[in-house]
Amino acid sequence: MTTSTLPQGVNAQTISLRLGHPDPATLGTPSFQEAVRRVMASPQAAHALAYGNEQGSVDLIAYLVERINREQHLSLGAENVTITAGSTNATDMIARLYTQPGDAVIVEAPTYVDSLHVFRDHGVRLYGVPMDSEGIRSTELESLLKQLASEGINVPLLYTIPNFHNPTGITTSEQRRKAIIELARQYGVLIVEDDVYRDLAFEAAVPPSYLALAGGEHAMQIGSVSKTIAPGLRVGWIATAAEHVQRFVDCGTTQMGGGANPLAAQFVAEYCKAGSWDAHLEDIRHLYSTRRDALLDALSRYMPPEVTWTQPLGGFFVWLTLPEGLNGAAIKRAAAERGVLVASGEGFFTQPQAHPNHLRLTYSFAALEDIGKAVRILGEVVRGN
Ligand SMILES: Cc1ncc(COP(=O)(O)O)c(C=O)c1O
Repeated sequence: MTTSTLPQGVNAQTISLRLGHPDPATLGTPSFQEAVRRVMASPQAAHALAYGNEQGSVDLIAYLVERINREQHLSLGAENVTITAGSTNATDMIARLYTQPGDAVIVEAPTYVDSLHVFRDHGVRLYGVPMDSEGIRSTELESLLKQLASEGINVPLLYTIPNFHNPTGITTSEQRRKAIIELARQYGVLIVEDDVYRDLAFEAAVPPSYLALAGGEHAMQIGSVSKTIAPGLRVGWIATAAEHVQRFVDCGTTQMGGGANPLAAQFVAEYCKAGSWDAHLEDIRHLYSTRRDALLDALSRYMPPEVTWTQPLGGFFVWLTLPEGLNGAAIKRAAAERGVLVASGEGFFTQPQAHPNHLRLTYSFAALEDIGKAVRILGEVVRGN
């Protein structure tokens, strides 16, 4: 990889544990290039190069419906899935169509920072509910829902990242998911489950999705190929009740230009139908789990005992809690001066100033042989050496 293909701020002298990006070496594999060639040589190419139908690539929807039904024990039909330009576009479309300025949207504290930005674009009020090792805390969620109801504040959405959460790496337990569905039903809140890391389970299968546990109602499940095929494709989807899909199909942007990214979606459909995604998933799960192990091992070796961290069972992230009094942003700056890039945790909260002592480390991007060295340097910075 040349320096010019590296993300901003990363160069050959730095080790990046900062970005939630897939390893660039995993993108554009020979089997993906083959799928692209097959599509371009087929009569489908002319179709995929035109404006697409509003719901998105029929072939990709058919593939996803079969896969979701098989893996999640659902019985969805084509009317339950729509293609989007990645997960971010899905979140934006949901926020645009399901919230009004001044509404409350509940998120995990912490949560994915760019979703906070998306929701803010729509003028909603954001409320963070703390997490523990089983996910968002349902007792705190219930208190918040009660409080907002008593203040007459409308809460259309709860946005959650149930599997290998960004930034904490936590997977919400099945029991917790059930408790949250009960509350969502009781208070009439739609659950938006951003499930972009679902296919990166290293150890065991993930718990049933909110969509599955709620019988296809009360939840919108967002998927994406960004973390496992290529983010540049900008292909994702929403699986949910048919009435919601219809709303996406009928909205202004979709009506004008047709469904999202028809050509890229056709490449993905061809690649997936050939079985190449599943084979690739096997490879990258192995790649990332080896890096996860290296990172956890290095943390045990180099971090002072007052630092604690999560134990992700998949995905890209480990979340560190520093002792009170240590400042994540200062550690991040000091580590960057020594060539190690990490994310400090405050930006992942709706109230950043209340959470100064966290770091997020990503193991998807750095080479295996660099991870130990990066954590050794970070450990020295944390110890003040
Ligand atoms: C939880 C979560 N959702 C969405 C995204 C972005 O997904 P996409 O590239 O499909 O927009 C990310 C990427 O970091 C993420 O961590």
